[in-house]
Amino acid sequence: MMERHSDTMFFGSDRETILKAAKTIAEGGLVAFPTETVYGLGANALNPTASANIFKAKGRPADNPLIVHIADLADLEKYAYPTPVAYQLAKAFWPGPLTMILPKKEIIPDIVSAGLPTVAIRFPSNPIAQELIRLSGCPIAAPSANLSGSPSPTKAEHVRNDYEGTDRIDGIIDGGSCACGLESTVITLTTTPPVLLRPGFITPDDLREFIPDLVIADAVKNKIPEGTKVQSPGLLHRHYAPKAETEGVKGSSRRAAAYINASMLGTDRCGVMCFDGEEDLYLSKAEVLSYGKESDPAQRAAEMFDALRILDKKNLKKIFIRIHDGDGLDLAIFNRLIRACEFNITDPEKYPPVIGLTGLSGSGKTTIGLVLKEMGYDHIDTDGISRLTLDLGKEELVTAFGETILSSDQTVDRKKLAAVAFSSRENTDILNRITHRYIMAEVVRQLKKDQDEKKRALIDGAALLEAEADLLCDRLIVVYAPEEVRLKRILERDGITEEEAKKRFSRQIAFEKLSQKADFLFDNSSLFPESEIKRLTEFLSQI
Ligand code: TXA
Ligand code: MG
Repeated sequence: MMERHSDTMFFGSDRETILKAAKTIAEGGLVAFPTETVYGLGANALNPTASANIFKAKGRPADNPLIVHIADLADLEKYAYPTPVAYQLAKAFWPGPLTMILPKKEIIPDIVSAGLPTVAIRFPSNPIAQELIRLSGCPIAAPSANLSGSPSPTKAEHVRNDYEGTDRIDGIIDGGSCACGLESTVITLTTTPPVLLRPGFITPDDLREFIPDLVIADAVKNKIPEGTKVQSPGLLHRHYAPKAETEGVKGSSRRAAAYINASMLGTDRCGVMCFDGEEDLYLSKAEVLSYGKESDPAQRAAEMFDALRILDKKNLKKIFIRIHDGDGLDLAIFNRLIRACEFNITDPEKYPPVIGLTGLSGSGKTTIGLVLKEMGYDHIDTDGISRLTLDLGKEELVTAFGETILSSDQTVDRKKLAAVAFSSRENTDILNRITHRYIMAEVVRQLKKDQDEKKRALIDGAALLEAEADLLCDRLIVVYAPEEVRLKRILERDGITEEEAKKRFSRQIAFEKLSQKADFLFDNSSLFPESEIKRLTEFLSQI
């Protein structure tokens, strides 16, 4: 059924809609339609006024030429002067996600080619696109159907969201989700050797079978300074970018998460577009959305623009995007995402690693901390910081627990605070919510300083996991000792009663929870853990 969504736009997936769309295009209108790559915004390519309306509707710069879509190989030479290799590529990859740039014939209006003497031609494989072109009786000029600058549409709703409430386009054919999810490969055959201008599903290796000396344009992977003369104007324009500020993050899952979590602490309303399986590595306050397995570029290509749009609807201040820098289809994804991030890309592997160290009371963390300090790690002590933060959080603590937590000099009295805060689970949670924020902020401040100075950092503390500081670490070391040993140690060290010691134990996180998170379990039950230290040194040398 064809629906009418506003007075001005038709929307549907049936034959009636396709017929109406073809008629609209033949009469000089604009219709969004599905292709195997992304949705296109089509007009009669031989009609200059209709083609000019595409630029108006999208807000597209006039210097950015359009692709002419055909549905019959024989049409290639009606609009362009094909070279022998053009026929070879057409035979191998058409119909499909490949666009070829060739010298243009007179019949193509200047507005379509943005005044260039060349024209981009593509024969899409999507059956709806083919049928629309045939029924319209003309070649269809179509850029991606998004508003200029925003992510390309891979679903009909994306187009609807961009144009809802406007009268800039006449209708949309809904063909479901696009199979590739990424615009076509663009190659120019007007130079010797030919140059790949935009990577896509047809990869450089696919093309090299026919063009062994294929050149990849610099702009594919790099930012080209404004004003540079390039072969394809589209390479320079701002592209695919969500409204939120974006940053691409390369590197291993753990290192990237540690970096992103530290960066997120100072900012509210953050999102992460991550790889499958990384979801739990991020701070609980973040909006996390995975766009596919790191090992499956086809899945990521299909999901990426949708994920960008979903996150951007959440009104976030900042979105971090996990990026895989690779070849083949990964080159195409990389090319789009670095533009979505406006070339703001970080490689956290260039920072020295951050190690977390934790364990239950009396397990002997301090000793291991000293060993690490000797190895050159800079020590960030969350327990020490937590004492310091009591004064920073004083006002919030008084609001939560009353003036009774203050000593006569109006500073927070730790014993009095402990008495109220540990009296119930609920109060302990309130205390943690207040203090952990300050702890994390200070940890991140010290960590940033270490990273600027290229120092390896060690974050240590009993409250590490509760404060989510483990998420700032590349690796987590958990120190273990049996309960009898720990009891003996803290009785000797802190001079408290056995009853008090056991109460302290009961308030701590379950050991199973700690050990689950551990990358290295340090057995500290003996007095001289020489072999464990040796094992730890080896472990750390491999990071
Ligand atoms: O998959 C696709 O190619 C989609 C679907 C709808 O077919 N279309 C698409 O069009 O992505 P668009 O306009 O978003 O991207 C076309 C790219 C632009 O970067 C443009 O600068 C370049 O192709 N281009 C078009 N004609 C050109 C020409 N004569 N010389 C150099 N570059 C050209
Ligand atoms: Mg586009």
